[in-house]
Amino acid sequence: MRTKTDILVLGSGIAGLTFAIKAAQQFPNRQILVLTKTVEGESNTRYAQGGVAAVWDEQQDNFEKHIADTLDAGDGLCKENIVRIVVEEGPERVREIIGWGARFDKEKNSPGYDLAREGGHSEHRILHYKDLTGWEMQRTLMEEAAKYQNIKVLEHYFALDLITQHHLGRMVIRVTPDIECYGCYALNKQNNEIDTLLARVTILCTGGGGQVYKSTTNPVIATGDGVAMTYRAKGRVENMEFMQFHPTSLYNPAGENPSFLVSEAVRGFGGILKSAEGEEFMQHYDSRLSLAPRDIVARAIDSEMKKRGTDCMYLDCRHLDKEGFTAHFPTIYDKCLSVGIDPMKDMIPVVPACHYMCGGIQVDEHGRQSSIHRLYAAGECSSTGLHGANRLASNSLLEAMVFAHRIFVDIRDKLEGWDFKDGIPDWNAEGTTDPQEMVLITQSIKELKDVMSYYVGIVRSNIRLKRALDRLYLL
Ligand code: FAD
Ligand code: SIN
Repeated sequence: MRTKTDILVLGSGIAGLTFAIKAAQQFPNRQILVLTKTVEGESNTRYAQGGVAAVWDEQQDNFEKHIADTLDAGDGLCKENIVRIVVEEGPERVREIIGWGARFDKEKNSPGYDLAREGGHSEHRILHYKDLTGWEMQRTLMEEAAKYQNIKVLEHYFALDLITQHHLGRMVIRVTPDIECYGCYALNKQNNEIDTLLARVTILCTGGGGQVYKSTTNPVIATGDGVAMTYRAKGRVENMEFMQFHPTSLYNPAGENPSFLVSEAVRGFGGILKSAEGEEFMQHYDSRLSLAPRDIVARAIDSEMKKRGTDCMYLDCRHLDKEGFTAHFPTIYDKCLSVGIDPMKDMIPVVPACHYMCGGIQVDEHGRQSSIHRLYAAGECSSTGLHGANRLASNSLLEAMVFAHRIFVDIRDKLEGWDFKDGIPDWNAEGTTDPQEMVLITQSIKELKDVMSYYVGIVRSNIRLKRALDRLYLL
């Protein structure tokens, strides 16, 4: 099938839907097509727990503090102008989603929001909805998007390749200066056909890639497809070495996929990291103890596990108020109980797990892909320069909303000038093979996850990376 759409959005998480809603409002006569790999509500967004960081309480907090915390967490590799943009424009975007119906928790008997704290933040500035913030934001966005008839969401559509001049027979290499994107080829998983989707402009909002690791908090849709498509189309990607490991996923010897996250907000609420013997250990690594930035805490846990030869460390919440804990973290509490751990009586066993892709598709301050025209990227698949080497907790949802808005502003006056490209051929399956047995693919995925987890984990060395590279070439 061939389809023409004015705007093609790949991904229905916070970045994709925020952008689609704005575009639909601005262009009531233009068609916005949103593709999503499984169902509309399945995304990394949906699993976000801690919340969204924004300067809210101006008596206590200010932009300079949030900027300083973000720069510090990023280990000197953030782009300062981008940090300022996201921090300063963030509160407006949060007000916008509240206007669309997002219900963040309020303080008891007060109209003010209950602001939480997470690792690396010097102030309480995390708006949240219990420990289900992402679910609430995804719900809000889906309900808002459904109000616009010009947004069409295609579920079970798997984008495969971006269409560029390459598909018209022209040689396109990484330094070709005028590469343009004309849409994408996508597999309709309901009939197994590959459709040609032509667009005036394409927005990549395909999320992260944690599923390349054996242990990750990311759902199975998170396989870095947007980054791979951009790379294959000869676009620039950057900072892919900065995969963030969350320090505290629930240790589950049965190897659950995805790993269940125990939010950093639990440490913000007073949870303390300890060994099995009940000793605190973070004082050996950082003066901020259990609330140090994520990379420091993850490395500390990794190092303690290696030294002690243990499979996990522990988060002690036994001293915390049960009523407060269960009100803030009902999902975490229930999950722990379901595996025989009562957080009020037992320490919670935790291990680091791959959590967030700090690098990705290189974009500028308007979300424009830096080397392919008519292509934009927002959210976790993009690399804006906000996170540097390590993302500050709860800055991701914020970044996705800020950049979805910036892309919308950038294309507002350009859309009319972009036409559909003629002569694009249908998908050419030449050179592909049918593996006959699916097990050959699932086994390759398993090998990939093993290689990444053993050799490209939290602490790396040249010798391990070389081994990974050799194995990956074989795969
Ligand atoms: P996603 O929400 O992941 O959406 C990606 C979309 O792209 C999906 O709809 C998917 O189906 C689609 N897609 C992917 N590939 C294809 C393809 N080939 N074809 C078609 N569609 C495709 N961040 C915070 O700021 N605060 C938090 O509290 C927080 N907690 C988190 C907790 C967990 C457990 C996890 C996993 C992440 C958390 N994060 C948090 C990170 C944050 O949730 C994500 O970075 C953010 O939601 C990403 O949004 P997105 O729109 O970029 O991508
Ligand atoms: C968490 O709740 O710990 C996750 C927050 C984040 O990824 O920003």
